[in-house]
Amino acid sequence: MIPPLHRPRRSRRTPALRDLVRETTLSAHDLVYPVFLHADQEDVAIEAMPGQTRWSPDGLLRVAERTLEAGVRALVLFPKIEDGAKDSTGTEVSNEEGLVPRSLRALKARFPELALITDVALDPYSSDGHDGIVDPDSGVILNDETVEVLCRQAVVQARAGADVIAPSDMMDGRVGAIREALDAEGFTDVSILAYTAKYASSFYGPFRGALDSAPKDGDKKTYQMDPANAREAMRELYLDEAEGADMVMVKPAGPYLDIVRAVREATTLPVAAYQVSGEYLMIEAAARSGWLDRREVALESLTGIKRAGADMILTYHALDAAGWLAD
Ligand code: PBG
Repeated sequence: MIPPLHRPRRSRRTPALRDLVRETTLSAHDLVYPVFLHADQEDVAIEAMPGQTRWSPDGLLRVAERTLEAGVRALVLFPKIEDGAKDSTGTEVSNEEGLVPRSLRALKARFPELALITDVALDPYSSDGHDGIVDPDSGVILNDETVEVLCRQAVVQARAGADVIAPSDMMDGRVGAIREALDAEGFTDVSILAYTAKYASSFYGPFRGALDSAPKDGDKKTYQMDPANAREAMRELYLDEAEGADMVMVKPAGPYLDIVRAVREATTLPVAAYQVSGEYLMIEAAARSGWLDRREVALESLTGIKRAGADMILTYHALDAAGWLAD
């Protein structure tokens, strides 16, 4: 046998050498922790998402403190709204005393250093469980009517202290409209993180269980993207950039790493990827069954998402991962 001239294994020989040649590093600062909240005074374990909790107002402050202690400095808030407050147009999103605005004010007062990201979409507030307003006759999700409501939602969130507004609804033109609405109210410094390529994914199942926000009829395929499409993500990217997005997102993350990479290469904006509830649950289910090592698999999946081109990752493993990275 001719001895090989090139031996890539040389650089893998010791931990110190491997650290020197490592191309991707994961840090707690890259992570965003999505948290669920409700108005009840008790913290409730979420059945559909083992390991995650729906926090009471006090519990939310406690988890925010733990998040900061772990070195993670960004939260994204998802409210579970009482059935009684839901209606077909999501009126509750304009309530300045609603669960999200109250939570934002409490968090801002206690932890001004925390970056607060809010979801803009109607699904937790809609009696139809859709991200937009459903036309009662045709069942069509009404785009422009919805965008008007989303603008009000964004302004209420900004007024209550949101640093970053994240529209996840996938209505056309909403990024530009929200930018204009924020600016008109003086919130020129509030950022927009656009869910640019959000796919109509079955990996969102556990999340909808956690918020009781599944669509009552039909699915979300007329507004979320077809998982089969990649070029279309570029089209959404160019539109969101032109409309003034500050950051763009790909969601889910793991099954869409090619999209993360393509978006990374096509934009100079920061790119976020959302490791969604179903991705979290697959790791948790396997770990809880003793089939996979939670820590190793979770960190490997996050590293893969970062390597594909994500600057930041929304993940339900954020607190665990930050702890493991600090070990
Ligand atoms: C709703 C929204 C969803 C998620 C974030 N915002 C669900 C959906 O579009 O049905 C999913 C997050 C997850 O699964 O972790 N606008």
